[in-house]
Amino acid sequence: MLIKAKNLVKSYKSEGVSHRIVDQVNFSMKHGEFIIVKGVSGSGKTTLLNLLAGILTPTDGEVYFEGSDITKMNDRQLSQMRNQRVSYIPQNDTLLKTLTLWDNLHLPFFLGKGGEITGDQLDEKLTELLKEFGLWDRRNAYPSELSGGEMRRALIIRAMALDPELILADEPTASLDPDTTLSVMEKFRTVSNRGIAVLLVSHQPQTYSYGDRLYEMKDGKLRPAKEHR
Ligand SMILES: Nc1ncnc2c1ncn2[C@@H]1O[C@H](COP(=O)(O)OP(=O)(O)OP(=O)(O)O)[C@@H](O)[C@H]1O
Ligand SMILES: [Mg+2]
Repeated sequence: MLIKAKNLVKSYKSEGVSHRIVDQVNFSMKHGEFIIVKGVSGSGKTTLLNLLAGILTPTDGEVYFEGSDITKMNDRQLSQMRNQRVSYIPQNDTLLKTLTLWDNLHLPFFLGKGGEITGDQLDEKLTELLKEFGLWDRRNAYPSELSGGEMRRALIIRAMALDPELILADEPTASLDPDTTLSVMEKFRTVSNRGIAVLLVSHQPQTYSYGDRLYEMKDGKLRPAKEHR
């Protein structure tokens, strides 16, 4: 099993009352699987992803990444997992405005993510990905010069370049038009076909059929969704 959540709970207190934002979630995901989680705004999707990525500490329960309980990892172990094995594309993420697309894609490696790779190997890998994602001609563009769809594809390349085992993507097609949404979802299918597991959060029905399995987050509970579209 790649990732497994056991009786996962996250509560927040407001005005003395505790609210369970993630409520006893049990969930597991195999290597290479593509899972989509739908759910209305406020249902706890982002909170769930943050727990699975080890960014938030659960109130109760456990998260296992390849058998290791990440809630018991120290900071060094956690950052190693996040840097080298899990790539997270947060909600509304963007590239750094002051760098070109090409430099943005190199940034995680300058920051020590991605393990051992030579500069030449990295350039070769990024060249290949940019060509595959139709962005090679845009490599010297600044983020403000990219379209919404180009930006989302660039974020996927940045996540993939680290050769993770899992990509967590929070509403990566939000605010895109229907055609662009589908083209970005095709790219996630490409990611998945390469054996990288994808856990993608979305509330756009046209994305639901792209995954191997569809779940629904509702009032903090995660359950298999009834319809596949
Ligand atoms: N740090 C926090 N403290 C208190 N409440 C929080 C905190 N973070 C999230 N919440 C609440 O938890 C609920 C779920 O938030 P979350 O961001 O997980 O929802 P979501 O499903 O991702 O919504 P959206 O689709 O709008 O992104 C919301 O009611 C939110 O206000
Ligand atoms: Mg959210």
